[in-house]
Amino acid sequence: MSLSIRTRLMLYYMVAFLVVLTMLFGLILYELSVNLTHRLDRTLRRERLWLEEQMETRYAPLLQLNGDSLLERALQADLDEWYAHQREFAIIQVGEGNSARFYQGGKFERPLQLLPVDFFTRDPGYYTIYLQGKKYRTIMRRRDWGRIIVGAENEIFGRVVDELTEIALGLIPLMIVMLLVGGWVMARVAFQPVVQAAEAARRISLTNLEERLPPYAGKDEFGLLVNTLNSMIERLEQGVRRVQRFTQDAAHELRTPLTILRGEIELAYQQASLEEPLKEMLGRLLDRVILMQKLVENLFLLARADTREMPVEKSPVQLDELIHEVQEDLQLLVDERPVRVLLSRNDAVRVNGDRALLYRLFMNLCDNAAKFTHQGNIELSLTQQDGQAVFRVRDTGVGIAEEELPLIFERFYRTRRARGSEKGSGLGLAIARWIAQAHGGQIDIESQPGKGTSVTVKLPLQE
Ligand SMILES: Nc1ncnc2c1ncn2[C@@H]1O[C@H](COP(=O)(O)OP(=O)(O)OP(=O)(O)O)[C@@H](O)[C@H]1O
Ligand SMILES: [Mg+2]
Repeated sequence: MSLSIRTRLMLYYMVAFLVVLTMLFGLILYELSVNLTHRLDRTLRRERLWLEEQMETRYAPLLQLNGDSLLERALQADLDEWYAHQREFAIIQVGEGNSARFYQGGKFERPLQLLPVDFFTRDPGYYTIYLQGKKYRTIMRRRDWGRIIVGAENEIFGRVVDELTEIALGLIPLMIVMLLVGGWVMARVAFQPVVQAAEAARRISLTNLEERLPPYAGKDEFGLLVNTLNSMIERLEQGVRRVQRFTQDAAHELRTPLTILRGEIELAYQQASLEEPLKEMLGRLLDRVILMQKLVENLFLLARADTREMPVEKSPVQLDELIHEVQEDLQLLVDERPVRVLLSRNDAVRVNGDRALLYRLFMNLCDNAAKFTHQGNIELSLTQQDGQAVFRVRDTGVGIAEEELPLIFERFYRTRRARGSEKGSGLGLAIARWIAQAHGGQIDIESQPGKGTSVTVKLPLQE
């Protein structure tokens, strides 16, 4: 699964935050535990000292080896009273070994039995032990007459931990949601320039190389990237402009010599004294030169379109009149073949455009229809639909294979079928499309191999 940088950043940010938070929580708990234990220890110490004092004063007779049963009962009663409602317990041992006597009281009925077995072998000091699953802090102290053990539940700490855990458990989902939302918003804001730059970059192509990525004010790495990309686009633009200029210059330079060549050949061709084979050859040469002239003219037009130097002089054009002209000229193109030229509809439609260019656009389409239709019909129609002038040429010609359809508007592209013939260089449709676009219109083509082709031009009406 590939996540966007935005999402990944947001997740990293969230995980980092949670880790820091957990560590902080742990640290607080640790500090608290140390602190509270310390306090508890002080309380236990006071308790022990007090018990010691009691033993060594009021109950001093008990410390003799033979216990006084009356005093013993009094001590037990006192112990029961002192520790009646406490969560503490106390054990007093008098004597050592088998003759030791124990007095106990407090939380448990017999705390002595609950102590860990090794407890009495330990050195005097503070211990944390578990009694019936609860944490008890315990102090053990030896005296020359025996020992005293006092323990208390580490209760406050337990409660604090419980409460903090509860708070944390309640807060964590909320925090995750807040972190997700916050992270998402932050990442979105931070990445907005990237998204904008990507959108701008997507729009830039060979036809609008003068555009640039939106300027970025920051002097950070992203600003560096934007500036670098922009200067790269600038270098590309310069390179492309050079090539375009070169093509335009080359086409321009070829025009004059071709005109001269054609004039000379025509002159020679008209010489009365010319012998037949030579005349034939000159005729073929002339055909070639005319084709070449057409190619160079087309190339020159497209090159000027690229450099935006091709003039488009717009004025109101009555399209239906123009279509009549086109129809007549198309008739001449198909003359000897069994192809009928029809004008099925010719609405009175007016557009704002360059008459010569529009004629060229329609003629290029009709020329194709005539070239690739050996019998049947070529049907022209001009209608008005949805505020647009719609011109359609429908032929019953050879058609175009589906996989070649997207390619035929490319410069110099000719379908496999067409490549054999000498007529045509594959620039006609590229020019037609440029003219349509220069008028704010578009061309669509549909075709079925063997059945025919239909080309539709849509142009905005004159307002
Ligand atoms: N009406 C059509 N029927 C069948 N194929 C067509 C039709 N129109 C265009 N094509 C195919 O598309 C190719 C490109 O057309 P385009 O007009 O650009 O070039 P061309 O006609 O070959 O040469 P040019 O127009 O420069 O004389 C043609 O070579 C042809 O293969
Ligand atoms: Mg053509």
